[in-house]
Amino acid sequence: MSRVFDALRKTGSQSDPSMPFSASAPFAPAAFVEAIDKTFQLESFSTARIQLGAESHLVLHVEQNGPGAERYRLLRHRLQGAHAEAHVRTLLITSPGAREGKSTVSLNLAAALAEKKNQQILLLEGDLRCPSLTRELGLTLPSGLTQCARTDIGLKSAIWRIEPLGFYLLPAGKAVDKPAELLTSEWFSTVVAELAASFDWIVIDAPPALPVVDALTLKRFADASLIVAWAGRTQQRAIEEAIRLLGRNHVLGVVLNGLQKLDQGYYEYYRHYGGKM
Ligand SMILES: Nc1ncnc2c1ncn2[C@@H]1O[C@H](COP(=O)(O)OP(=O)(O)O)[C@@H](O)[C@H]1O
Ligand SMILES: [Mg+2]
Repeated sequence: MSRVFDALRKTGSQSDPSMPFSASAPFAPAAFVEAIDKTFQLESFSTARIQLGAESHLVLHVEQNGPGAERYRLLRHRLQGAHAEAHVRTLLITSPGAREGKSTVSLNLAAALAEKKNQQILLLEGDLRCPSLTRELGLTLPSGLTQCARTDIGLKSAIWRIEPLGFYLLPAGKAVDKPAELLTSEWFSTVVAELAASFDWIVIDAPPALPVVDALTLKRFADASLIVAWAGRTQQRAIEEAIRLLGRNHVLGVVLNGLQKLDQGYYEYYRHYGGKM
């Protein structure tokens, strides 16, 4: 499951390719053994239960068999291909500008990934200037990344399992004006490495790519990026600029948000082919 285990397995096979993998094998380097001890015990996180109204944009919650939910499952299917082929596990969700649907897509994607059994998903709120995830989920949580970075509140108390959605959330916490200090700190690198060793997927809800440097700073923790664009509103030029900044090879694709008109056609298709609606 984790990179730490992959690294250990590789190290072991270099010493003796015939030897089966074992975490306690004598050739396991101490640094890796220590890293395993530092991974999180997911069952130790508290659970937060959400109640979302029908007006919520969390389509996987409010309309489980609707077209929006199906489209997120299709996105999940494609991402699983990238996971299998290119070991993509940590995904940066950004967009050229503000209010184009990054947080909405991140929430729905995390929920879609968590529908699969035995997949542990973390939604990491990387937009430290404009956090919105706890509000969007109707929660009030006591702490988040920014408080953990400043005090000795352990991350354990800041990560919550969100039910009934089934993913874990590490919220940004109190908004800050200058997130660069936190995002470039050694503390944050260590945190992300420990999280990557504990979860199957990490979805990073990032800030916009064009106005601030934060998304590019976060990129170094991600295996790939998805760019969100609001259909009919986000300029093509801006999408191209965001792709250029992130690097063409890093961008898996563009997710179009707000395609209500297309949804109408999809409803017809779905009815025709026997969807329960
Ligand atoms: N497909 C959609 N249809 C209607 N409203 C949406 C949709 N996607 C997002 N919104 C709303 O638009 C606003 C901005 O979305 P958000 O996901 O917070 O954007 P960002 O994270 O890019 O700033 C929020 O109020 C959100 O609830
Ligand atoms: Mg947002």
